[in-house]
Amino acid sequence: MHLPRSVETADVAGKTVLVRSDLNVPLEDGRVADDTRIRASLPTIELLLERGATEVRICSHLGRPKTAEDRARYAIEPVRRAVADAVGDDRVRVLENTRFAAGETKNDPAFARELAAGCDVYVNDAFGSAHRAHSSTVGVAELLPAYAGLLLLDELRNLGRLLGEVERPFLIVAGGAKVDDKIAVLQNLGAKADEVLIGGKMAEDVRDESPFGFDIVLPTDVVAASSFAADAETRVTSFDELPGGWLGLDVGPETREDFARRVAAARTVFWNGPMGVFEWPAFAEGTFAVARAVAESDGFSVVGGGDSVRAVHEAGVADSISWISTGGGASLELLEGKDLPGVAAIPEC
Ligand code: 3PG
Ligand code: MG
Repeated sequence: MHLPRSVETADVAGKTVLVRSDLNVPLEDGRVADDTRIRASLPTIELLLERGATEVRICSHLGRPKTAEDRARYAIEPVRRAVADAVGDDRVRVLENTRFAAGETKNDPAFARELAAGCDVYVNDAFGSAHRAHSSTVGVAELLPAYAGLLLLDELRNLGRLLGEVERPFLIVAGGAKVDDKIAVLQNLGAKADEVLIGGKMAEDVRDESPFGFDIVLPTDVVAASSFAADAETRVTSFDELPGGWLGLDVGPETREDFARRVAAARTVFWNGPMGVFEWPAFAEGTFAVARAVAESDGFSVVGGGDSVRAVHEAGVADSISWISTGGGASLELLEGKDLPGVAAIPEC
């Protein structure tokens, strides 16, 4: 993969630098509920400060604001406070939510000119938004000398390792509910893998008719629930013989053992999508078993997608994963083999 030129090669001393980060973080009661993306964005900001930038002007979208009430709900203020607490340098400024400007998502050149005004250099570090062709991710790159931030480059290098030659066996674990979004990625990536394990809702969708041109490994047993509820009656049944009206909300103990054994034998592992409704303790064990197995792998392990990332944190094994991607849609589009517009807009090194 060709990499865009790095911020490390930019001369920023005495300059005003516009940085596009992905600070689209979950909020709860007016506070940042998970600051993973903020922490991941700090190295680039700190590098620019160390190298003598006069001003580091950060911009990001937050949520998908549409109505007037959304402007209060998605105001950038809590993020601005979290950044200020983390960096504590008055050369840093955080602009208001880019999506409050109607032009942003249309890649309107007028909004791009507004963002670029008074800036000398543009750094895109927003990997999580790199699949969006918006004013702040693409438009400004045409107006200012553009560079890639450290996080963006790390994401491309690490996820890129799954696109090039991989150490084998290469195993993919896929699950989750957004089945349609993931079929295309799996078709591209799964054909390269030695083994593809499928659990969760996706397993049920492909059980009777597989859309893939390769063999897949499906669960053999499931935790069946009498209804879609956290406190539903449960019983372990065979995957093929779910009683009428019951729902498979987790993979069963036999499947957990089988999946863990296969993961342990792999040299490269990519995991996206939970094995069940892990938000409910009665149906969490399958997803946590996969999280632990992926973490125990001494091969190269990559986890992408919001739910799986949350599961590795909840299972307490995040430190043992080789690469946890900050991008959901962006990582899937990259692995699908698509060009990311936010990356393509930056000159190569
Ligand atoms: C994300 O959270 O996936 C990114 O920040 C992109 O957000 P979007 O899907 O609203 O464009
Ligand atoms: Mg490991």
